[in-house]
Amino acid sequence: MLSTIAPVSRTGKHERSPLLTNAREALRSSLLEWYDRAGRSLPWRVRPEDRAAGVAPDPYAVWVSEIMLQQTTAQHAAPYWRAFLRRWPTVRDLADAPREEVLAAWAGLGYYARARNLHACAQTVANERGGVFPQSLEDLRALPRVGEYTSNAIRAVAFDKPASVVDGNVERVLTRMTAMQTPLPGARLEIRVLAAELASPVRPGDYAQAIMDLGAVVCTPKSPRCSACPWSAWCAGRRTGHPARFPLRQKKKSRPVRWGVCFHVTGQGRIWLRRRPETGLLGAMMELPGTGWTDSAPDPTEIDKACPFEADWRRAGRVRHVFTHFSLELEVICAAAPEGWRPDVGGWVPLTGIDQAGLPSVMMKAVRLGLETRPV
Ligand code: ADE
Repeated sequence: MLSTIAPVSRTGKHERSPLLTNAREALRSSLLEWYDRAGRSLPWRVRPEDRAAGVAPDPYAVWVSEIMLQQTTAQHAAPYWRAFLRRWPTVRDLADAPREEVLAAWAGLGYYARARNLHACAQTVANERGGVFPQSLEDLRALPRVGEYTSNAIRAVAFDKPASVVDGNVERVLTRMTAMQTPLPGARLEIRVLAAELASPVRPGDYAQAIMDLGAVVCTPKSPRCSACPWSAWCAGRRTGHPARFPLRQKKKSRPVRWGVCFHVTGQGRIWLRRRPETGLLGAMMELPGTGWTDSAPDPTEIDKACPFEADWRRAGRVRHVFTHFSLELEVICAAAPEGWRPDVGGWVPLTGIDQAGLPSVMMKAVRLGLETRPV
């Protein structure tokens, strides 16, 4: 039966799945054949025909792409990746860049800790490893904040060395292939065992990219295109008639809501911004000044008291933003700066340069909402 994989034996070890023993080679070759024919051309990717002709990927370029792809889709990442590589063509260039500029170039990709980690990691590679990315998993893992996924991805994609790369796409493909009954996140070990046994030792880089592409363009979250899938003949999820049910997921606790108020203060074509604290959420990013974020909605008298000066404050409305561990309801209130008023923290930024100010998405939404209420 194909729908059970990696059953746990009495010794607690994961045994080989029947899917693997029976069809491993056929699965590898059909996936690679599909990738050769239909895999995506991406700006950071060396396509199989070029790899075969001796073109080697640039590990720095691959690493930047892999960090961006942990955040967003290839389509959304591509312009950011191009801009990064144009501005900082080598890991040394990135290491030498001022951190604020790296954070600003990341704005719009979300989760800014990744940009801070990217910069720190570039400095380690540039200063301690002579600007050369290591190839072994052990040395890759020793780089600052490089985890299991990134180290495996660099090893496979950049160096074409055997490594099992498991991201959300791969989890979806493999849980569907096996109609896996264990829900995520508990299924992760089972999936890793399966992924490692399936990975091609002959074309590890192409295989890793192929299975991720399959998840991204064929075995998509909501409407898998099974008729275009090179693995459909083996897919237990497809045979259930409801492949999109997989992966099963443990019920999540609902996300808590936090509340805050921000002040949208403009004057002479400029807006008041400040930098957030170095550590924590959106660390060192620019923001509209405001109150702290709390667990209950602020009451109007507290908002009044928090206003930085007396003025005709107007409510612009509320911006909602979902972070990993909570969602934020951010009240935006606007005023024109009184004559002669000066901010005590942060400073003025011209509104014409607002797109380059390095504002995270939530703050960009708040700036736009404020401008709709009080055009400058
Ligand atoms: N998602 C993350 N990394 C990827 C890659 N190298 N190819 C395709 N999809 C990906």
